[in-house]
Amino acid sequence: MALKHQAPRGTRDLLPDDSARWAWAEQQTRLVLERYGYGEMRTPMFEDFELFARTSGESSDVVQKEMYRFTDLGERELALRPEFTAGVLRAFLEHGLGGRARVHRLWSMGSVFRYGRPQKGRYRQFSQVNCELIGSAAPGADVEVISLFVDLYEAWGFRGLTVKVNTVGQPASRREYGAKLRDALAPYAARMSEDSKRRLEQNPLRVLDTKDESDLGVLRELGTKLPRMLDSVDAEDRAHWDQVIAGLESAGIAYELDHGLVRGLDYYTRTAFEVHDPSLGAQSALGGGGRYDGLIEQLGGNPTPGVGFAIGMDRALLVMEERGLSVELPDTVYVVARDGMRANVVALVRDLRKMLRVECDVEGRSFKNQMEAAGKSKARFVVIAGEEEWARGEVALKDSKTGEQKAVKREALAGEVTARSR
Ligand code: HAM
Repeated sequence: MALKHQAPRGTRDLLPDDSARWAWAEQQTRLVLERYGYGEMRTPMFEDFELFARTSGESSDVVQKEMYRFTDLGERELALRPEFTAGVLRAFLEHGLGGRARVHRLWSMGSVFRYGRPQKGRYRQFSQVNCELIGSAAPGADVEVISLFVDLYEAWGFRGLTVKVNTVGQPASRREYGAKLRDALAPYAARMSEDSKRRLEQNPLRVLDTKDESDLGVLRELGTKLPRMLDSVDAEDRAHWDQVIAGLESAGIAYELDHGLVRGLDYYTRTAFEVHDPSLGAQSALGGGGRYDGLIEQLGGNPTPGVGFAIGMDRALLVMEERGLSVELPDTVYVVARDGMRANVVALVRDLRKMLRVECDVEGRSFKNQMEAAGKSKARFVVIAGEEEWARGEVALKDSKTGEQKAVKREALAGEVTARSR
């Protein structure tokens, strides 16, 4: 029979095994964020289109070709969120959070939507963990945010990550740098993609973000001859940069200067950072962020600095799976009832499920079939309830990890399983 529907292009279904890995990663994420003192913000999945257009930048890919834009039945121009920052800042201003304290640490997690060309690690609906530290212009804030960024990956089992860092200056120094970059690249324009030719005119920094092979050829050829943003920033930005770098050194965070690093969204000032994983191919950015000191003012708030990042969860989980990074799921107990024991087992299972992950048969299958199902379920523990042991207040507990089988008092069962699971 031909199926009538499939998941829309660029979206994915997570089946229970996938979801278990996601839930584990999300749980680790919450633990780390709590230790860093971040509070959760949950904002709508759609906002006014204008909010995103204004913040992401008119010439960004996100606004030009990737927005899920729609008009609702009340003729409102809306868009599914392509990222969290704009919505979080809108909510920050709408609820007057700035008046309640000077510094705010906020995080969010959930789906975001971009109408890109789907490929490995690139989806139209994907999930981000997003963090914002709002209210501090100090280099120490950048360092804290980058250290949280790295610690999240570490909590998922990543090791030895190197964060690429650059400065993107301020609008004025960026314009100056953009002009230098345009001059340097203009003689090669004929060899460049149509997108890059357009960007060379509109926003030359974005050319550095190209994925096009012929553009990359030009950039490689020019190499160190290309002007560097760091040489165009003013003294204050330079001092900020030096302190961020010194802070990363003190915190023991491995970093690499990447003079070609520009972010895909337009709101950044000063520090910009990303981590990449080559196994993802063209879509190698696992996560990224930076400082956005003018953004809140641009949205109508008092001048308030901020710095933050987002991690693409889909990509992080893809890399974890490929590298076999293990996800610690709780051990399962499979309870098997011998004849005459089914009614007793129902109560035992319900009781154990207050603490443990428990599976059992619900179809009245034979002892042999239950044992087979227990084997297939990959449960670490099998509990066998037989009439004789039950009369003594016991059940048999088999630990497939050690191969050991022994009689255990029913009231001690949950404790015994928990102790062995540690
Ligand atoms: P972004 O670099 O646009 O930053 O996105 C962050 C991460 O989301 C990327 O590094 C990538 O892992 C993931 N991502 C982006 N597009 C896709 C896609 N189509 N499929 C799967 N994963 C994707 C932001 O969104 C900023 N709001 C980060 C930020 C917060 N800056 C300051 N505060």
